[in-house]
Amino acid sequence: MRVFAISDLHIDYKENHRWVQRLSNCDFTNDVVIVAGDITDRAVSMRDTLCELKQKFARVFFVPGNHDLWVRPNERCDSLEKFHALMALCNVLDIETSWAQLPGVQIVPLLSWYEKPEESTDSLYVPQEGEDTALHMWADNRLIRWTEGERSIARYMLAQNTAPVQGDGPVITFSHFLPRRELIFGRSHSAPRPRPLTSASNFNFSRVAGTRALDRLLRKLGSSIHIYGHQHRNRCREIEGVTYVSHCLGYQRERQLGVVCGMDEGPRLVWET
Ligand SMILES: [Fe+2]
Ligand SMILES: [Fe+2]
Repeated sequence: MRVFAISDLHIDYKENHRWVQRLSNCDFTNDVVIVAGDITDRAVSMRDTLCELKQKFARVFFVPGNHDLWVRPNERCDSLEKFHALMALCNVLDIETSWAQLPGVQIVPLLSWYEKPEESTDSLYVPQEGEDTALHMWADNRLIRWTEGERSIARYMLAQNTAPVQGDGPVITFSHFLPRRELIFGRSHSAPRPRPLTSASNFNFSRVAGTRALDRLLRKLGSSIHIYGHQHRNRCREIEGVTYVSHCLGYQRERQLGVVCGMDEGPRLVWET
């Protein structure tokens, strides 16, 4: 049994959907795939994609990303309702969203969100000269509707993570958002140097990257490997005994520019019995 990782499928883009469809129907039938968020906000496309993955892999693990909880102007629900509907859909489709013991390894999905610098000292924020402090280009500001009282979306999501059962073997955790500031700037030894996207030159991603609370949690769980997504930069880096792996499909433009690479080989192998 092998464990593969992928995130940020963004299947509303035709070429991304084709990438998923092209994954072998027979190579992964004994394997596990971890999908670390950002598939689509469209319910029908979400269901279809999860079903497609379920046909290709023996087991599919998933946590929602920010794009999955976007609410379009014609939708009546808010992002919290969308989150619960998505978790219910996963349950129906046998998509796994909680701790599981596999042969020789444990997998722990971690729900999370990013924390902005004005929201928490756990924010991964790093100041940047000339940055757009209002995040005008950040679509979450328009498409995430959060009405859960005083509690921030990050605190709400983190509180959903129940303590896993003590199992056997190494622990693989995964989240959509980043758990550490260093990961924003790290580079895979095999990846070309990222070039900035000019349209995003005053966008400071660190404002919405993740939360340090995630790192505390994954270390408490004894994680050896942590999979994450969200930034659309593919990396593999060991920090203080944990190997952090990001393998995002991202957008075609990012693949063409070389800021996302290594996708021709499919999802990334992270563990093998
Ligand atoms: Fe994404
Ligand atoms: Fe994301």
